[in-house]
Amino acid sequence: MKKNAIYLFANWKMYLDYDESNILANALASEAKNFDKRIKMAIFPSALSFYPVAQVFRDVGIGIGAQNVYWVDKGGYTGEVSANMYKEAGCEYALVGHSERRHLFGESLEETEKKFEAVLAAGLTPVLCVGETSAEKKNGITERVVKNQLESALKKISWPKGKEIIIAYEPVWAIGTGDACDPEEAQKIQEIIKETVKKTVPKAGYVAALYGGSVDGKNIGAFLAKSAIDGVLVGGASAKLKSWLEIIKESVKK
Ligand code: 13P
Repeated sequence: MKKNAIYLFANWKMYLDYDESNILANALASEAKNFDKRIKMAIFPSALSFYPVAQVFRDVGIGIGAQNVYWVDKGGYTGEVSANMYKEAGCEYALVGHSERRHLFGESLEETEKKFEAVLAAGLTPVLCVGETSAEKKNGITERVVKNQLESALKKISWPKGKEIIIAYEPVWAIGTGDACDPEEAQKIQEIIKETVKKTVPKAGYVAALYGGSVDGKNIGAFLAKSAIDGVLVGGASAKLKSWLEIIKESVKK
């Protein structure tokens, strides 16, 4: 069945410097009029490049998001940028709980929850990232880990009635490894995610489930063919014009 909306979210991580970010943003902006109307695209540039890239995308229908935020509005927090500051700079979305934040920077479940709340309070749309490590997968506890990540971020939240929730399932072992999850397996986890979110936040509107982890132009079709997968969150292949345009082209074939 054809999807009404296809989420193509690009996490540029720390792959691109200031000039490279601006060059890629301008190249995408000039292609944007050719994108299929069903595509909901959002780019997550580095904090340094955020503002100029946001300006480039302002009127071309490409959304913009923060890779990470701090939960306090303003103050003595060296090196941090708050959700409100991003909002003022034209931000629409923010990644929360990305596995690189959780595992490389030791972000706890409590910190993820505070960031999630701050993002929502600032009027941004959070993209909550969840996923198991390879050890957790081997131990057969994927479902438990994912449910725990979801519930700890969502349980105390007062969610605006009917507002859409976006969750990205990104198995840690599939990120940047070239070893993407089996689409059938991702579909099963996304069904669990949708069910858990609906139970935890009954007021929520549509629950959009994205898959992330070694997505490229060759495998995106198989993920989007799955009914519970609404789109993708892409790292490496989104930071180069050629591979991102290939993903865009392949995404609308289903
Ligand atoms: P890759 O697409 O490079 O595997 O990264 C996925 C990811 O972490 C997106 O947030």
